[in-house]
Amino acid sequence: MNYKHDISNTILKTNRLTLRPFVLSDLDDLYEYAKVDGVGQMAGWPPHKNKEESLMILNMFIEEKKTFAIVYENKVIGSIGLENYPEELFKNIKDLNGTELGYVLSKDYWGKGLMPEACKEVLRYCFENLKLDFVACCYFAWNNQSKRVQEKLGFKYQFETIRKTRTEKEENCAYNLLMKEDYYQLPREN
Ligand SMILES: CC(C)(COP(=O)(O)OP(=O)(O)OC[C@H]1O[C@@H](n2cnc3c(N)ncnc32)[C@H](O)[C@@H]1OP(=O)(O)O)[C@@H](O)C(=O)NCCC(=O)NCCS
Repeated sequence: MNYKHDISNTILKTNRLTLRPFVLSDLDDLYEYAKVDGVGQMAGWPPHKNKEESLMILNMFIEEKKTFAIVYENKVIGSIGLENYPEELFKNIKDLNGTELGYVLSKDYWGKGLMPEACKEVLRYCFENLKLDFVACCYFAWNNQSKRVQEKLGFKYQFETIRKTRTEKEENCAYNLLMKEDYYQLPREN
C-alpha cells in the first residue's frame, strides 16, 4: 500500500547535495531547468512554457509535501518525488508499505552521477527512517539514462506496461523494484 508522505521537516545531505522541501523562492531555478526541451519529456511532461506554469507546479510541490528539491552549490537543479505507485499492478505485495520514486535533473548537470547520489540518500531515508518494505521506480522503455540510474541503485526489473503520460501519450514503461531485504544487502560506502 502507498505510504502517506510528509517531508515538511526533512532535510537530507549527501557529499555534494542537500535535499529539502521546495519553497516559493525556488521558482526561478525550477523554471530554468523545467523550460528546457528534452528534459521533462523523459519523465512524461512537456517543457514549461512560462514562469506561471512553473509556479503552479511549485505550489503543488509545496502543498503535497512529498517532493524534495535537489540543491547543488546553492541552486535548485532538480527534484525527487515520493509518488504513489500503481497498486493494481503490484497485487502480490499489496500488504507491504511502499512508494515510487520520480526524479528529474537539470540538463546542465547530467552525467556527474548526481541523481544516483541523491536517490541513494532518499532510499536510505525510505528504508531506514520510514521503514518501508519496498520502493518502486519506472522509466520509459527508451529512456536509457533513467534505466542506468535505477541499475546503479540496485533496482530489479519487474515487468513492462503501458502508461498514459500527463499529455495523454501512451508509453511503454519498465517497472523496477527495490525490496527492503535487497536494499540491506547492497554494498555500503564507508
Ligand atoms: C535520468 C537522469 C536523472 C540521470 O541523472 P544523472 O545525474 O545524469 O545520472 P548519471 O550521471 O548516473 O548518468 C546516467 C546515464 O545517463 C547517460 N548520460 C550521462 N550524461 C549524459 C548526457 N550529457 N547526455 C545524454 N546522456 C547522458 C549515461 O548513459 C549515464 O549512464 P553511465 O553512467 O552508465 O554512462 C537525467 O538524465 C534526467 O534528469 N533526465 C530527464 C528526466 C528523466 O529522465 N527522469 C526520469 C524519469 S523515469
